[in-house]
Amino acid sequence: MAIQNDQFKKIVAHCKEYGFIFQSSEIYDGLSAVYDYGPYGVELKNNIKQYWWQSMVQMHENIVGIDAAIFMHPKTWKASGHVDAFNDPLIDNKDSKKRYRADVLIEEYMEKIEVKINKEIKKAHKRFGDSFDEVKYRAENPRVAKYIANHADIGSQLASAMSNNDMVTLKGIIEELQIACPVSGSRNWTDVRQFNLMFSTQLGNVAGEEGKLYLRPETAQGIFVNFLNVQKTTRQKIPFGIAQIGKAFRNEIVARQFIFRMREFEQMEMQFFVAPGEEMKWYEYWKDTRLKWHKAIGTPEEKLRFHKHENLAHYANAAVDIQFNFPFGFKELEGIHSRTDFDLSSHQELSGKKLQYFDPVLGENYVPYVVETSIGCDRMFLATLSNAYEEEIVPDAKGNDSTRTVLKLNPAIAPVKCAVLPLVKKEDALTKKARAIFEDLRFSFNCQYDEKDGIGRRYRRQDAIGTPYCVTVDGTTLEDNTVTIRERDSLEQIRVPIEKVEQIMSDRINMKKLFL
Ligand code: GAP
Repeated sequence: MAIQNDQFKKIVAHCKEYGFIFQSSEIYDGLSAVYDYGPYGVELKNNIKQYWWQSMVQMHENIVGIDAAIFMHPKTWKASGHVDAFNDPLIDNKDSKKRYRADVLIEEYMEKIEVKINKEIKKAHKRFGDSFDEVKYRAENPRVAKYIANHADIGSQLASAMSNNDMVTLKGIIEELQIACPVSGSRNWTDVRQFNLMFSTQLGNVAGEEGKLYLRPETAQGIFVNFLNVQKTTRQKIPFGIAQIGKAFRNEIVARQFIFRMREFEQMEMQFFVAPGEEMKWYEYWKDTRLKWHKAIGTPEEKLRFHKHENLAHYANAAVDIQFNFPFGFKELEGIHSRTDFDLSSHQELSGKKLQYFDPVLGENYVPYVVETSIGCDRMFLATLSNAYEEEIVPDAKGNDSTRTVLKLNPAIAPVKCAVLPLVKKEDALTKKARAIFEDLRFSFNCQYDEKDGIGRRYRRQDAIGTPYCVTVDGTTLEDNTVTIRERDSLEQIRVPIEKVEQIMSDRINMKKLFL
């Protein structure tokens, strides 16, 4: 884990040094858990969004997109359950004045037990070699069995306290386990109380509670309230989906790990409307389809896993996370939720407007069930960078070993697709030719022209931002109108006629390949 954390620090530093991500309002010492995307960050983020949008909307005849407003009628959040139930249990340490999520403190305690279990198993594995039977060992070794029982007991107490909104029991668990504040080391805790995660603001022309507005904590509700508008105007038949990309806001208590948990973030959500009783079939379909999407962009299978929810949100009858192995361990990247008819029924009830669909096949009206896929754009960005970031030894221009930092991004989502580099700056004819190639290619791709510094340094700069191809213009170019194309990962160079560069590059960076 120490090596992984080291890797994480390097990724965070790389994001700043190369203009991917900056702390928001940095000149004022920053705003906690809020970040700005820099010139390369915004390109990469837009490409990730494009990959998601095309896979959902362009590649599915029965999915259409919308872009709903961030502000919604306040009743929306009453109907959705967010006013009453979108809470985290909060506890303060009276000495350090630090604020924690009570459930997270307990989960961290449980993680420590897991570490102990894994340590015992690793030791035993070493001792018994190939004959080691892990299942038997877990059941029969008294120490491990005790840890496992303890872990299960705390887990079930936590689950029951959370689902019963029982703040007194939560505090009791913390006291019984003698959990101390990581900062002050003291056990001087306040009571646990519910903290609503929605940010609120005020409408300009309405005073008091009546004018209270919320910044949306999920984009999904903009889809639910528009369900009939979209269905009627596009004449979609069930099953069909509505997709949306947009900002969401949560006043997270524990905001950490860079852009993993932010207070302002972006979601890519799709609600798939199905006939009641069909939801589990579609839930399985979307689990499978979303996993394929992650693998197609190059995320290795072993870095992805499903994690089934034991504690279901108030709206769900089944839920699973796709977890990614971030540098700080396996954590949620995307959620797939079977949301039943909860949202549409609640909006129907509170608004008094029918949100039903007449099914021509069944010949009846019903409130559709919904399967949702929901992924944080920023989390996908972090997963993508964690996957792509590498430090490796490669030969430099003189054939000596040198270390390079490279982002091995899939070319389809790389911020810059190609850099055009004259081999030397001094020769006017070379720079003129290179500039002309750049001026032509920029109509088709995001390109850069760079003539500053030696060619080796320029290659390294492009490696560091993940540019998949460098087009180098040299003396031979002036003789026969050919250039070399250097491939970022293999370092292979091919010489091609200038007029073929655009076609070669188009074929290689095409997003289409990811959908086949
Ligand atoms: N509409 C369902 C929903 O919002 P969620 O599991 O709370 O479900 C979905 O969030 C996804 O949004 C998560 O899997 C994660 O990728 C992203 N997400 C949630 N909270 C986030 C935060 N504070 N910062 C960054 N991304 C977040």
